[in-house]
Amino acid sequence: MSIQLSGVRVRLGENDVLRNVSLDLDARTGAVIGENGSGKSTFARLLGGLISRTEGTVRVLGLDPGTQARQLRRRTAFLFSNPDAQIVMPTVAEDVAFSLRGSGFGPDELKDRVNTTLNRFGLAALAEHSSHDLSGGQKQLLALSGSFVRCPELVIADEPTAFLDARNARHVADHLFRDTGHRLVLVTHDLTLAQRCDTAVLFADGRIRTVGAPGTVVAEYERMLEC
Ligand SMILES: Nc1ncnc2c1ncn2[C@@H]1O[C@H](COP(=O)(O)OP(=O)(O)O)[C@@H](O)[C@H]1O
Ligand SMILES: [Mg+2]
Repeated sequence: MSIQLSGVRVRLGENDVLRNVSLDLDARTGAVIGENGSGKSTFARLLGGLISRTEGTVRVLGLDPGTQARQLRRRTAFLFSNPDAQIVMPTVAEDVAFSLRGSGFGPDELKDRVNTTLNRFGLAALAEHSSHDLSGGQKQLLALSGSFVRCPELVIADEPTAFLDARNARHVADHLFRDTGHRLVLVTHDLTLAQRCDTAVLFADGRIRTVGAPGTVVAEYERMLEC
């Protein structure tokens, strides 16, 4: 997914949360796994330009998230576990349209893009519905709509299915994996989902422990959990 890190350290407060992280990823889909507190979210936020490195170099889609965060944010979408963090407008359609602010589309084009996206994510019938009154699964689909309406080249999703029941989790995952020309970095505790990715990265104690085929990396993680 065009991600290159070399000798990266991230210090937050008193902690070196990531240490000596070097990585070169060019797969379409990559899983990020590891125990709570191992540094997965920090890694995801670093890629998305939401926090900066303390040391080392980072390139995402050829850009430096430290100095080119705005360009990077135009080309990437970030998805969280809690969709409430991303829903800002009162109705479903307005919320998706909000993601296109500043894009320069005229009102007809904007409406078309919003409708196409709502159709794709099965929310067309709820276009005028209050966005805050949706179910948890519908809210995550709305957050996905807001991400995908901008046609991102890279989607960084930090445990996007963590709060969902099995049916909704599968539905959201299917959308994330459907090839629409985007690349995907998926932080997840769902090891079955991790194995749907082309490659996987295992974090342990702020460092990368293994990178490779998801089957191998998941097996290593399971061995680690037995210790
Ligand atoms: N803002 C912060 N200040 C200090 N420590 C932090 C901060 N954010 C995260 N940490 C610490 O960094 C470690 C890794 O956190 P995180 O990246 O959220 O891990 P994960 O997503 O794998 O659970 C944890 O020990 C956490 O307490
Ligand atoms: Mg996390």
